[in-house]
Amino acid sequence: MEKLSIKNPSNLRTDFLGVKFPNPVVLASGILGMSASSMASVVRNGAGGVTTKSTNLEGQDGHPGPKVITYESGMLNCYGLTNAGFWHEKKEIAKFKKRLPQNPLIFSIFGFSLKEFQAIAQKVDQTRADFIEINISCPNVQSEHGRPFGCVPGMPQKVIKAVKKLTKKPIIVKLSPNVVDIVEIAREVESAGAHAISAINTLGPGMVINLETRCPVLSAKAGGMSGPAIRPLAVKMIYDIYENVKIPLIGIGGVTTGQDALEMIMAGAQLVEIGSGVYYRGISVFKRVCNEMQEWMRKQGVKSIKEIIGAAHD
Ligand SMILES: Cc1cc2nc3c(=O)[nH]c(=O)nc-3n(C[C@H](O)[C@H](O)[C@H](O)COP(=O)(O)O)c2cc1C
Repeated sequence: MEKLSIKNPSNLRTDFLGVKFPNPVVLASGILGMSASSMASVVRNGAGGVTTKSTNLEGQDGHPGPKVITYESGMLNCYGLTNAGFWHEKKEIAKFKKRLPQNPLIFSIFGFSLKEFQAIAQKVDQTRADFIEINISCPNVQSEHGRPFGCVPGMPQKVIKAVKKLTKKPIIVKLSPNVVDIVEIAREVESAGAHAISAINTLGPGMVINLETRCPVLSAKAGGMSGPAIRPLAVKMIYDIYENVKIPLIGIGGVTTGQDALEMIMAGAQLVEIGSGVYYRGISVFKRVCNEMQEWMRKQGVKSIKEIIGAAHD
């Protein structure tokens, strides 16, 4: 029978920008990150840390349903950055931290202009979040708001500089795969003073058409692609970024098994996030992934997960 508690957790312990994580498997933004109770159940199910749903100052409704569809090897979503706003998230972060002070929390923020980014950034130090993640990469609001800042060279540094002067929290910048050269953007992000990079956000947007209705299935017609279909792309992007910047990386995209997480770590990620994997394997995906990683480590004689960060590089 599958073990659902993490045995010998010490070999998975790690740290990121000086903050301790019980293990490197973290909840990605957008999935179960809107309330303290859902984030706490993710941790009870094995996650080392959590990322909140991306939040702006006032909150927004996002798109109507249908917002999610699965296809053969992935998912499309067009949530459109639905969130309840800063004041709600601040309370949820406080409740989460009261219950689980040992589990780091990444507060994901977004805006559609530099002013909007600044409006939320100047509030984040009022929260108990350990890090801010700047989401400059959501592809499923571009029909209303234009290309995400993460896809326009020159814009990431403007956002980072605007946010950095308003907060003391470490800044993680979440990159988009929808660019000609992700390394160019990663270098820009590093030289603008970001402390870390997370990659990747969803790919596309893509579209699925219903043959009966002859219409796109999603309400917004198109949505960001996630899940196993995008994993090799995410691994390659982490690999390339690792070769070209010095700041630490979080690998995201299609991770559903321990093997997938290990691949991402060998490509150069210090932490690995899981989003769509929750849909594929349920909330216990975090424990399962940790157990599978440990099983591999035991067979290979790897004593600490930190030993294999970047192991795939020459
Ligand atoms: C339903 C859904 C909602 C998402 N919402 C957000 C979000 O609010 N902010 C963000 O930065 N990424 C968001 N993402 C992207 C994920 O955090 C992640 O980068 C992407 O899905 C790739 O990882 P995965 O294949 O493990 O899902 C969302 C993804 C999904 C599937």
